[in-house]
Amino acid sequence: MKTDVEYLEFMWPMRHFLITCGDIETKSNIIAVSFCMPVSKEPPLIACAIGRRTYSYKLIESAKELIVNVPPKELKAKIYYCGFNSGFQVDKFKETGLTPRPARKVKAPIVDECIAHMECKVRQEIETGDKILFIGEVIEAYADEALLKGERKVEYAKGDFPRKIYATRFKSS
Ligand SMILES: Cc1cc2nc3c(=O)[nH]c(=O)nc-3n(C[C@H](O)[C@H](O)[C@H](O)COP(=O)(O)O)c2cc1C
Repeated sequence: MKTDVEYLEFMWPMRHFLITCGDIETKSNIIAVSFCMPVSKEPPLIACAIGRRTYSYKLIESAKELIVNVPPKELKAKIYYCGFNSGFQVDKFKETGLTPRPARKVKAPIVDECIAHMECKVRQEIETGDKILFIGEVIEAYADEALLKGERKVEYAKGDFPRKIYATRFKSS
């Protein structure tokens, strides 16, 4: 026997990322993103789906740049803060205590507490539904040396399979 479910519940577990955008000199922001994955090796491309009502959407849309920062599990509370609050209302760097540091090539800052960073130039934007899919070309990628040397082990931040299963809402065709 099978029963109807909300499809999204079955896409978990998903990794959590912190995407930074904007300009370190003026206004920058952090958004928690789980809809993020590699979509090409050559050229190196990452796709991230960003809600069209978010502050980050405004910043990425205007600068055509973003950084995918990879947070360790210890940052989970801060990831959730960045995912439940908007840069329209708060300065997330200030409120979380996360440290902005200049990136190599793009104007947005990296989140220093993250273990790896992918600087991207937006090459394509695709309207999906409530999100815009930004396809970013990775122009710089770097990570903590200790990690690469095997001196540090990390557990990546991810969401677990949800406890609650909802009824689905498919449109009738
Ligand atoms: C764990 C987690 C994952 C999220 N993943 C996404 C995502 O993939 N895309 C998205 O648009 N919003 C996602 N969100 C919601 C945004 O982070 C949230 O709307 C945020 O407040 C937007 O911030 P901004 O207005 O400062 O850009 C996620 C939230 C959480 C907590």
